[in-house]
Amino acid sequence: MTRSATMRAVQVRSFGFPPEASLEERAVPEPGPGQLLVAVRAAPVNYVDLLTMRGRYQFKPALPYVPGKCPAGVVIAVGPGVEGFRVGSRVLTMAEYGGYGEALVVSERSAYLLPDTLSFSEAGAMSLGFDTAWVSLRDRARLVPGESVLALGASGAVGGAAVQLARAMGAARVLAGVSSPDRYADLEALGADGMVDLSRPELRESLREQVYALNDGQGVDVVIDPLGGDPFDGAVRALGWRGRLVVVGFAAGRIPSVATNYLLLKNIELSGIQISDYRKQMPELLDECYREIFSFHLDGRVVAPPAVTYPLEAWQSALEDFEARRVKGRVLLTADLPG
Ligand SMILES: NC(=O)c1ccc[n+]([C@@H]2O[C@H](COP(=O)([O-])OP(=O)(O)OC[C@H]3O[C@@H](n4cnc5c(N)ncnc54)[C@H](OP(=O)(O)O)[C@@H]3O)[C@@H](O)[C@H]2O)c1
Repeated sequence: MTRSATMRAVQVRSFGFPPEASLEERAVPEPGPGQLLVAVRAAPVNYVDLLTMRGRYQFKPALPYVPGKCPAGVVIAVGPGVEGFRVGSRVLTMAEYGGYGEALVVSERSAYLLPDTLSFSEAGAMSLGFDTAWVSLRDRARLVPGESVLALGASGAVGGAAVQLARAMGAARVLAGVSSPDRYADLEALGADGMVDLSRPELRESLREQVYALNDGQGVDVVIDPLGGDPFDGAVRALGWRGRLVVVGFAAGRIPSVATNYLLLKNIELSGIQISDYRKQMPELLDECYREIFSFHLDGRVVAPPAVTYPLEAWQSALEDFEARRVKGRVLLTADLPG
């Protein structure tokens, strides 16, 4: 099949609320040495995309740019010197930008071959949530089999992945923190042993009470926290002796503070994760991460979260529905540039 000379992509021309952005036609780029040209098949929509487009993220790309992290797709051309990939290879990319387009160029070091068992949509739905949760559990929290884990925001991408991965990694007890009880129904089948209801009043105390009631009267060893705000305040108090809490994000809206004497009094650790930096600084750890995630998937120990797909041209509706929390599961943009 002849490769298309042009492609469509969402171009952000200025940051703002709303940003100046539209779907535009542009030339398909050529891959350079060590690079792959990937036709996007499924690109996840993430909160960080909105923050970046509005100029409110800590990293600002040079304008104009195409949003969209870590899409899955098929290799349609390879640059000189590429060895591990060929035209037709199915890949998950670790691209920082470019997913909201029909094609993008990535370094071969930033791509993973997809197992045959994983569809593009499944890979796109797992992208960013699973690697963030994996690194949080394995490297930041140093989870040991037999320990207990509380995953906050468990109906979301990172929290849901943390529930499944903690179970697959051998956690003895996995608690799921959800914004309302109706969000818990599907999580039991994915490995959750109990629900922590974040809609209860006075979370500072009521979160700890719920954890103790579900965990033999003790705090948990590990908390994965993509929420911040009141859930964080409660979760710090719900850590057991030598417990570790990993700060992932602030989906609840408030960046919380903590009195450091509390860390000393309870022998607890707080750490944070920035997955983009892990990709740049420790690519070999990300290799291990995806090897294990793919192998867990093959064994049936983790599954991709449900996803709702939008064609690329409906990118604005996709972002609106995502931000309004109207969609259950992941939001994916799909494209089908031939190649
Ligand atoms: N540090 C990193 O490297 C990294 C990587 C990935 C993500 N993140 C950040 O982590 C956060 C979560 O990401 P995600 O991809 O998991 O997002 P997501 O899929 O949109 O899920 C967000 C979760 O937060 C919950 N939530 C939102 N507001 C809440 C509130 N006020 N109280 C309780 N729960 C609330 C949602 O519950 P409902 O189901 O009820 O809506 C959902 O479970 C974001 O801030 C994102 O930017 C950071």
